[in-house]
Amino acid sequence: MADASQLEADLEALLQQEWFEPPADFVRDALITDLSVHEAAERDPVGWWEEQARALDWAQPWTRGLVDDDAPFYRWFEGGKLNLSHNCLDRHVAAGLGERVALHWHGEEGEIRTITYAQLLADVERCANALKARGVGAGDVVGIYLPMIPEVVVAMLACARIGAPHNVVFGGFSAESVHERMAFSNASALITVDGARRKGRTAPVKSEVDRVMDGLTHLETILVVRHTGVACEMRDGRDLWWDEALAAAAPECPAEPFDSEHPLFILYSSGSTAKPKGIQHTTGGYLTGIAWSFKHVFDLKPETDVYFCPADVGWITGHSYIVYGPLANGATSVMYEGAPDYPNQGIWWELCERYGVTIFYTAPTAIRACMKWGAELVQEHDLSKLRLLGSVGEPINPKAWAWYWLVVGGGRCPIVDTWWQTETGQMVITTLPGAQRMKPGSAGTPLPGMRASVVDEEGREVQRDTQGLLTLDRPWPGMLRTLYREPDRYVSGYWERFGAPTYLVGDASRQDHDGYFWVIGRVDDVINVSGHRLSTAEVESALVSHPKVAEAAVVGQSDEDTGQAICAFVTLRDEVTGDDAMALDLRDHVAHRIGKLARPKRIIWAGELPKTRSGKIMRRLLKDIAEGREIGDVTTLRDPDVMGQLTQAMRGRGDED
Ligand code: WTA
Repeated sequence: MADASQLEADLEALLQQEWFEPPADFVRDALITDLSVHEAAERDPVGWWEEQARALDWAQPWTRGLVDDDAPFYRWFEGGKLNLSHNCLDRHVAAGLGERVALHWHGEEGEIRTITYAQLLADVERCANALKARGVGAGDVVGIYLPMIPEVVVAMLACARIGAPHNVVFGGFSAESVHERMAFSNASALITVDGARRKGRTAPVKSEVDRVMDGLTHLETILVVRHTGVACEMRDGRDLWWDEALAAAAPECPAEPFDSEHPLFILYSSGSTAKPKGIQHTTGGYLTGIAWSFKHVFDLKPETDVYFCPADVGWITGHSYIVYGPLANGATSVMYEGAPDYPNQGIWWELCERYGVTIFYTAPTAIRACMKWGAELVQEHDLSKLRLLGSVGEPINPKAWAWYWLVVGGGRCPIVDTWWQTETGQMVITTLPGAQRMKPGSAGTPLPGMRASVVDEEGREVQRDTQGLLTLDRPWPGMLRTLYREPDRYVSGYWERFGAPTYLVGDASRQDHDGYFWVIGRVDDVINVSGHRLSTAEVESALVSHPKVAEAAVVGQSDEDTGQAICAFVTLRDEVTGDDAMALDLRDHVAHRIGKLARPKRIIWAGELPKTRSGKIMRRLLKDIAEGREIGDVTTLRDPDVMGQLTQAMRGRGDED
């Protein structure tokens, strides 16, 4: 085992290296080893995607691959019909793979549940019938607010089976957020849990939900998974225990084919305003995009690989690459209930060893946490089965890349740095591990069939090595179709700027002289904290809802651990003093309104906020202060003295531990 200084020296040496070749042992068995796939897709992108779609089971073939008459409301595989849960379950069982393990579930306290494809199918059929018995049918939205337990997978697939779009809310969001998202989406049912386990403690969930869920008249059913045994009230006529409802349900629920463009799910994500965007995905194109990318970016051999992505299903990564991508390909996955540091900081590696994980996919922020906890925790475990590593969620800094490569991957595993978004549904920019060289810090090139550019404010492509706005220039099957019940916002947010088919990503990027893309970060008011998207406006609106707050402005600030951190400038009401107790109170308030992940790391008491003469808050200047940069142009400020006071206040501030 290398000592710490040796490791530092090895990492330093790796950091000198611009390119990393795919390791020869990996290439030998890789599914794709050259760029001929990219070339084929480039010759006829739609035709190429149609070919990939044929790998799925369609109940009725499509008549047109892509319909763009009504762009940007694109339609893929028009006329085709399929059932997504059939593609993830029934067809594998019919092919004799019923006994293959779909999920190795590992609980926080070490409990193990091994779930085969046949068992998963049986549960999904019963759950689908239980929903139907409550009147839930095609087109009805079903909310899902569950921790990382197998029931969350069952619930999603059951919804897909009956054509009820699911609306999953990340378990770390507060009950208030769930209420808001159920109201926006007009959900007719919600699937939740009695309580959730959080690092050895139990957090009540159902009783929290009950506290806020009154008044939603459309919410007729709450299905409750018994998980921790924590007491909760069940309301007659509305609430049902999951186990009882499934036991009472008929065992068979034939998978009904749905139109390729039938809505599969809505996933709320942060945008520039306080109201989250209901990003809507549909069935045939989405499944084609994620099934192809999961298989080829991760070089999947479903008979032998074991895949582990310790993200949460409440994010798009969980939808596409914990649930649908792996199951569509008949893969075996590990699912872990707990936090990365519970019961100890080596738990991920313990699980990798125990289940013989071969493919591992996580976020840079998690890798940086592991670096802090120490290489020994990784090296204590036998990770020799690992053969491929993936990264997602934010740019990976080269040091974290080198550590991942060396300490986790032992220098034998390619790393795929996958750039994509909730909106894109599927991976967009990355290297194919057996075919393309890697450059630490760059995600690579667009996947086959995809096209990306870097443009200036007018939409003109910029020179290589110049920073600009990232755009995607051609529709792709996994793309969002609209924002739920806000089609105008869909058009104005993504397409109006440059006109379809040019999709505005919202990230700054540059393309280097080798054609590799380097994504820099968001250009809008979205902050990326530990790979989680949050809107500054949403946090501001939570802060000003506190009775003692007069005004608040929130900016993102670079952070060594979390990529970005939330920095809030707060003006309190006259009689209130800004002290540590007040800061704690505000953090709790934000946690309550949105969720713990939205708590500002830094709170700065501001006598006044910098404003233009017309009264607009100048966030650009606040960002300069937060980043400790030289303050930009202040000539348009109503009162330039404000900046001096704020810089002072910044120096005096303590941060959250
Ligand atoms: C950022 C997560 C650099 C980016 C799948 C994007 C990345 C936003 C990467 C989407 C990456 C994601 N390199 N930046 N590999 N992956 N991002 O919707 O800013 O939660 O716009 O989807 O995360 O976040 P979202």
